[in-house]
Amino acid sequence: MKKIGVLTSGGDSPGMNAAIRAVVRAGLYFDLEVVGVYKGYHGLIHDQIGPLTSAHVSNLVQRGGTILKSARSAEFKTPEGRKKAHENLKKHQIDALVTIGGDGTFTGADLLSKEFDFPVIGIPGTIDNDLYGTDYTIGYDTAVNTVVNAVDKIRDTAGSHDRLFIVEVMGRDAGFIALRSGIGAGAEKILVPEAPTNIEKILQKLEKDMRQEDKAGIIIVAEGDEYGGAMGISKIVKEHFPDYDTRVTILGHLQRGGAPSAFDRVLASGLGYQAVKGLMDGKKSVMVGSINRKIVFTPLKKAIKYHSSINKELLKIAEILGGG
Ligand code: F6P
Repeated sequence: MKKIGVLTSGGDSPGMNAAIRAVVRAGLYFDLEVVGVYKGYHGLIHDQIGPLTSAHVSNLVQRGGTILKSARSAEFKTPEGRKKAHENLKKHQIDALVTIGGDGTFTGADLLSKEFDFPVIGIPGTIDNDLYGTDYTIGYDTAVNTVVNAVDKIRDTAGSHDRLFIVEVMGRDAGFIALRSGIGAGAEKILVPEAPTNIEKILQKLEKDMRQEDKAGIIIVAEGDEYGGAMGISKIVKEHFPDYDTRVTILGHLQRGGAPSAFDRVLASGLGYQAVKGLMDGKKSVMVGSINRKIVFTPLKKAIKYHSSINKELLKIAEILGGG
């Protein structure tokens, strides 16, 4: 192996740059040439490939987003698209590829790897933390801290005005951000896609809270919750309690941006290095992750299929601490 490529694909996440830096510097350390593929699989199909040197990745570890840019490529989902991508890999004499992203990225990586017997290693980079084979994905810790900081601020207004705030966080299919940030911010209720939402119970609690002197409260809802995220929940609350002063805040993409936390930088650095080392050791079609502080390689198919399952005990604890 002489030359490797690196790309970021899917939703960006804080710490992706730190992972790119680690792949480049580890590659150079192992005497490999490293090239960057811009705009994910789109750039692989359309030949947007350029060299990456040590200087390209200096002053980068602390920056959010991804210098390689990212995209969700519909073309790469077709066999023709992947064929073009493979032709470009051959044209540039790239021997192996590191893909940084989430489940969509790994679905494509696995197909590319299997169809052309091409070595690909995945690094988990998504704020959702929904991959099997790693305790944490790069960006999750930062996103959770962003949500907690935002809710701390919202609480000031909730307390001053005796309001109930329904705060929507990201996660179409995954409630990991909701659960962890909800506990960290002391939310009264946390609603996630992985567990059925007991709307009757929520309404009972709100009825009780409304009669109290301090009516302020926070409900954290993952966007993929069955009742349609924060707007859906707010509609039901307003129908039942028209006098309860309720507001909705949708945190949206601010959860994806900003400087990565120290935790995410260190995680990204370690996984970036291990991905390159894994390729040197002949690994392919696997994701590099960290479980109980040990480096683990999991087949890409498994990392996607067995989604990290939500901690039911933590959900229960959150319910108890939130006042039942
Ligand atoms: O997968 C990361 C994520 O931020 C999800 O939490 C969210 O549902 C989705 O991406 C949003 O995607 P987009 O930026 O394409 O709207």
